[in-house]
Amino acid sequence: MTEKESQIEALRAEALGCQDCGLWETRTNVVFGEGNPNSPLVLIGEGPGETEDKTGRPFVGRAGQLLDECLYACGIARKHIFITNVVRCRPTLVSETGRLQNRPPTADEASACVRGWLEPILGTIQPLVILCLGGPAASVVIHKGFKITSERGQFFESRYAPYAIAGLHPAYILRQEGAAYDHARDSLIADIEAARKKVVEAKKEPPRTLF
Ligand code: URA
Repeated sequence: MTEKESQIEALRAEALGCQDCGLWETRTNVVFGEGNPNSPLVLIGEGPGETEDKTGRPFVGRAGQLLDECLYACGIARKHIFITNVVRCRPTLVSETGRLQNRPPTADEASACVRGWLEPILGTIQPLVILCLGGPAASVVIHKGFKITSERGQFFESRYAPYAIAGLHPAYILRQEGAAYDHARDSLIADIEAARKKVVEAKKEPPRTLF
C-alpha cells in the first residue's frame, strides 16, 4: 500500500462513524469515495442517491452507468481515478406519498462534509486535475455561484488542484431526450477528455509545491 492509500483508508474508517451533520440519522451507508488515491485525476459529484446509499459506493446507479460509459469513451476505467462527492451521506426528504426522495444537500451539510472529509481527501490525494460533475460540485471546488451552462469546459485554478474543470452532471444528461441527450452526453465526454489531456500536460510541468 502507498502512503496515500493508507491515509485514505484511515480517513475512510474514521468517516464511517461521522455524525458531523444530521444526515447520519437517515443514511444506510457512508459513501466515502473510491478508486485510486494515487491518481492525478479526481472526479467530484454532488452526493449519494438511493443506490449509492444502499451500496456505499459513489456513482453506481443509472447516472453512474452513464458516467462509466463516458469514461470508457476516453479510455478511462474506475481503477484509474478517484471518485467522490461534496457530501458522503444521501440527503433525503419524504414526498407527499411517503416515499424517500433525493434532495440537494443544505449549505450546512455541504460545508460540514467539505471541511470534515472532502478537504482531507483532496489534501491527501493532491490531484493535478479535478473534474466537477455539475454546478454544485463546481461551486465548492471552483467558485461560488458557478454557472454550469456558461462556465463548463473551461479550466480554473482551484485551492484543491492546479486545474479544475466542470462538466454536466450525468443525472442531468439522463433527463434530456433525443438530440439534447446526445449533445449533453458528447459534452461530458469532451470535458472528461479535456481533463485527461490536461493531466498529461500537467505531469510535464514542474511540481508546484516543495514539500
Ligand atoms: N450523483 C452524485 O452526485 N453522486 C453520486 O455518487 C451518485 C449520483
